[in-house]
Amino acid sequence: MAGMQMLDARAATPLDIVRLKDYRPPDWLVPNVALDFDLDGPVTVVRATLSVVRNGLHDRPLVLDGSRLETSWVEIDGARVNATPQGDTLTLAIAGDRATVTSEVRIQPAANSRLMGLYASEGRLVTQCEAEGFRAITWFPDRPDVLSSYTVRLAADKARYPVLLSNGDPGVLEDLGDGRHAITWTDPWPKPCYLFALVAGDLVAREDSFTTMSGRKVRLAIWTAEADLPRSAHAMAALKASMAWDEQAYGREYDLGEFNIVAVADFNAGAMENKGLNIFNSKYVLADAETATDADFDAVAAVVAHEYFHNWTGNRVTCRDWFQLSLKEGLTVFRDQQFSADQGSAAVRRIDDVRGLRAVQFPEDAGPLAHPIRPDHYAEIANFYTATIYNKGAEVIRMLHTLLGADGYRRGADLYFDRHDGQAVTCEDWLAAMESASKRDLGQFRRWYEQAGTPRIEVHAARAGRILTVALSQRLAATPGQSVKPLMHIPFRLAVIGRTSGKRIGAERLVELTGPETRITFEGLDEPVLLSLNRGFSAPVVVDAQASRADLAFLAAADDDPFARWEAMQRLALDVLATDDDPAELVAAVGATLAAGEAGSLDAAFVAEAVLLPTEAFIGDQAKMVDVEAIHRRREAARTAIATVFEDRWWAAYRRHSGSGTALTPEAKGARRLANVALAYLVTAGSADAVAAAATQYADAVTMTDRLGALTALINTSTPERDTALADFHARFAGNNDVIDKWFTAQALASRSDTLDRVEALLGHPDFNPANPNRLRALVGAFAANQRHFHAASGAGYRLLAGQLLAVDKINPQSAARLAVPLGRWKRFDPARQALMRAELERIVGTAGVSKDVLEMASRALA
Ligand code: ARG
Ligand code: ZN
Repeated sequence: MAGMQMLDARAATPLDIVRLKDYRPPDWLVPNVALDFDLDGPVTVVRATLSVVRNGLHDRPLVLDGSRLETSWVEIDGARVNATPQGDTLTLAIAGDRATVTSEVRIQPAANSRLMGLYASEGRLVTQCEAEGFRAITWFPDRPDVLSSYTVRLAADKARYPVLLSNGDPGVLEDLGDGRHAITWTDPWPKPCYLFALVAGDLVAREDSFTTMSGRKVRLAIWTAEADLPRSAHAMAALKASMAWDEQAYGREYDLGEFNIVAVADFNAGAMENKGLNIFNSKYVLADAETATDADFDAVAAVVAHEYFHNWTGNRVTCRDWFQLSLKEGLTVFRDQQFSADQGSAAVRRIDDVRGLRAVQFPEDAGPLAHPIRPDHYAEIANFYTATIYNKGAEVIRMLHTLLGADGYRRGADLYFDRHDGQAVTCEDWLAAMESASKRDLGQFRRWYEQAGTPRIEVHAARAGRILTVALSQRLAATPGQSVKPLMHIPFRLAVIGRTSGKRIGAERLVELTGPETRITFEGLDEPVLLSLNRGFSAPVVVDAQASRADLAFLAAADDDPFARWEAMQRLALDVLATDDDPAELVAAVGATLAAGEAGSLDAAFVAEAVLLPTEAFIGDQAKMVDVEAIHRRREAARTAIATVFEDRWWAAYRRHSGSGTALTPEAKGARRLANVALAYLVTAGSADAVAAAATQYADAVTMTDRLGALTALINTSTPERDTALADFHARFAGNNDVIDKWFTAQALASRSDTLDRVEALLGHPDFNPANPNRLRALVGAFAANQRHFHAASGAGYRLLAGQLLAVDKINPQSAARLAVPLGRWKRFDPARQALMRAELERIVGTAGVSKDVLEMASRALA
C-alpha cells in the first residue's frame, strides 16, 4: 500500500505515505497460523507456521512484514529457502496456489522500550499488536484484512512465568521437566493479527463467571500482581455488567469459554481488545476507595466496557484497513457511552462527554492536525488514534442513532452483524446496513466521514405576533487539504422556553439541516420566548446565536434539557470572561444554581458541574487569538468573586455534602463532587478556616476523591498545609504507580507562579520515568495542558516539552509523537509565541534520526 512520498524540506528523511485510494485486497490469505514461543532468556525464539493460499488469479509473490526480527531460517513446504529481508519486508516466490511457510526468528522483549510487539513490563512478558506490532513478533502479512485461526504454544520457565495466557481456549498444561512448562491455546475465531496476544508471568486472578443469554457459562478472570488483587473488584463488576448490557442493548453474546483481562504497568494506550485476552493499562483496571477517585472508578468501568464491546464491534466484525479505524473505535466509544449513561447520571455523563470532546477534539479539528474520522492518508497509523477517530467518531454514530431513532438504529446494527460477521469491512458497509434497515438515504450524511472540521451553526430568530421563525445556517471552515466543503446533514434538536413562565412551550423539535439555511417556525406563542439549542448536544457543532447575558442566566435556571441548561451557564461565563467586565451577572447565575441545589430542584452532581468555570484553554479556544495572561487574570477574578460573595453558602454546601463515605451511588458521588468544588472555592476565598478544613479533609479522607480534592484545593496556596499534604501524599502512596501519577499531575497543573520550576525539578525526581507512558503523561502531558505556564512568554515551557519529546523519541516514538500535539496549536497565539513554538517544531523536524511517528506529527503541525 506504500504510495508516494511526502517531502518535508527541513526533514532529513522523507515519509512514505499510505493512501486509502491505493487499497488492494491481499495477494495471499493465511487461513491458519501456528505459533511456538520459547520465552526464556533474554532472547525469545518464535517459530511460525503459516498456511498460505493465493487470493485470486495472479502470479505475485508472498510479501511478509517484519520489524527488528533476527531471522534464523525460512522454509517453504519444508525446504529451506535463501530468504533475505529487504528492510521491513520479506518476499517469497511460491509456485503453487498454496503452501506452508515456516520461519524462526529471535526477538528481545526485555530490550523493547517501544512497547509494541512483545515486551517486558515489571518482569512479565506482554504483547501489544494494534496497529502494526505483530510484525515485531514474526514475519506475517500485518494487515487487518488477513484473518487466521491461531494455535499458540507457549513454553517457559515455571518459576518466572507461572501463568501463560493467549487468545481462545487453553489446552492442558504440560510439564517439560527441567523446571519448564508449556501450554497450547486455540482460538476458534479467525482474527487479524492485531488481535493476537500473549501474557507470561507472575500473576494472580480474581475469578468469577457469567452465564450468557443462551445459558453458556463463561469463566472470567482478571489477572494482576498479587498485591493489586483486592483492587480488581470494581473492574470485575463492570465486566459482568457490560456482558449483560450488550446482550440486552445489542443482542450480542460472548463467544468463548473464558474471558481474561490482564493489568500491565507499562502500556502505550488505555487498553487493548485482543480476542478473549484483553490487556489493560493498569490505570483502567485497578481501583479502590483509597487509591482511585470517583472519576477513576467511572473510567475503569467505561474502559472495561469499551474493550468488552469490541468483541463484536472490532473482533467478530473487524476493519478492512486502518483508514476504517473509526468503524470500530467511534462505534465502540458510542457503545461505552450508552452503557455508562445507563449506569446512572446520564445528564452528567453527557456533559462530561462534551467537555472532553471540546477540550481535545475541537482544537484538533480547528488546527493543522485536523483530519476526517476516516482519513485518506497517513505515514504512521499510530498517530491516528485520536480524539477525532474516537470521540468525534462516537458523535457521528450518535447522530445516526438520533436520525434513525433507537429502533431503526438497532435494526441497522443487527443487519450489520448479520451481513458481516467474520469479515473485515469498511465504514461504507456500516452505513449501507444502516440505510437498508432504515430505508433512509444517508448519502449526504456520509460527508461526516470525509470532511474534517467542526461545522458552525448560525441561528437567527425573528418574532412576528405569535410566531417565531428560526433560521439555521451552516458554515464549514477550510481544513488542511480541504478548502471547499459541501454541506453536511446535521440533526439539530431545539425547543423554546417561555421567558415569563420559565417552561418549555410545545415539544422539542428535531430538525435535519441539509441545505445552507433551514427555517422552522414555532407557532401559537403567548409570551416572549428563548431558544434552547442543540439540546443533548445532538450534533458536534459550534452554535453561534445571539443571547443577552440576562437571557443566558434565565436559561441557566430554566432550561429543561440538562445539557442545554449547563451550556447556558457556560455561554454566560464565556461571554463575561471574554471581556474585562464586572462578572456580577455570572456570579448571580452561580448563586441561582446554588439556590436550586439548596432547594432540592437540582441534584448535587449537576450543581457541581454548572458552577465550575470553563477552563483557561477552552476560554482561549473562543478567541481569535489566545491572550494567556488576560484569560488567567479574568478567570481568577471571577473565581474569587464567586468564592467570596457566596462564602457562607459554600460553607453550607460543604457541611451538607462532605463526609459522604465511600459509596459509589450517584448520590454519594454527586455529594463528594459538590463538597470538593465548594472546598476549592472556600480556599480561593482565602480564610484560614478554609485551609484548615482542607487540611483536615486531607488527613481524614476515606476516599481518594476527598484526599485528592483537598490536595488540589491546597496546591495553589503558599501554606504549610500545602507542603505537608504534598509530602504526606508522596510518602503514603510510595510504590503505587497510579497514585504517584496523581502527585505529579497535581503539581504540573498548579497555577502557582513557580510551576515551571517545579516541573523542571520533578523531571529529575527519582520517581520520574519517561519510559513509562503513564508517568510521562502525568508530568509532561499534564504540564502542556497548563495553559498559563506551558505558554510562558519566555518559551521555556515549549523548550521543556520539545526536549522531553526528543529524549523520549529514542525510547518510545509513539509516546513522543503525542507530545507534539500541544505545539501544533501555535496559530492560535500571538506572533512572539508563534515564533517560539514554531522554532521548537523546526528543531524537532530538523533533528537527525527522529522517528517516523514524530516526523509526521511535527511536520503536519508546522503546515
Ligand atoms: N484498540 C485499542 C482501544 O481503543 C487501542 C489501541 C491503541 N493502539 C495504538 N497504537 N495507540 O481499545
Ligand atoms: Zn477501542
